[in-house]
Amino acid sequence: MLKDPIQEALNEQINAELYSEYMYLSMAAYYEEEGLPGFAAWMRAQADEEHDHAMRIYDFVLDRDGRVLLDGIEEPPTEWESPAAAFEAAYDHEVEISGMIDDLVELARAENDNATENMLQWFVAEQVEEEATAADIVDKLRYVGDDGPGLLMIDRELGQRRGDAGTDDAPSGSTPE
Ligand code: FEO
Repeated sequence: MLKDPIQEALNEQINAELYSEYMYLSMAAYYEEEGLPGFAAWMRAQADEEHDHAMRIYDFVLDRDGRVLLDGIEEPPTEWESPAAAFEAAYDHEVEISGMIDDLVELARAENDNATENMLQWFVAEQVEEEATAADIVDKLRYVGDDGPGLLMIDRELGQRRGDAGTDDAPSGSTPE
């Protein structure tokens, strides 16, 4: 049985993961519009992963005999200043999500909820990967700057990312290589 503060916090995290899915879908649409299909494909694969993240917590709440209470999903931005700015926003978002996961771990410890803490450890590891992957691409984008051919090269590379949502028990390999 889940204690109320844990149930509430996990429902908030489900909402945050679904918002992440929504935001990455919005970024995918933006990149399509910008003529960068590889970036768009990468963002779509990322959106799938976020859906998987939400469902992990959703299933956990149900397994613990808790209530999943879905809330409205905030409207994501639809425009960014540049292809690089969108990826920087993605990186910042992942840092924010990592902070939310850390807060959840702290709450689970305070409530002596070992099962929730154990479930959250998957997310702790996943966030290390999520931040590192986004940071890597942001670095590459900084390096190419406004260079069109450089951007197209990264676009080709990102287009090779395979969707890997829901197929593993360990944090997924979300590197674009
Ligand atoms: Fe589910 Fe990208 O954090």
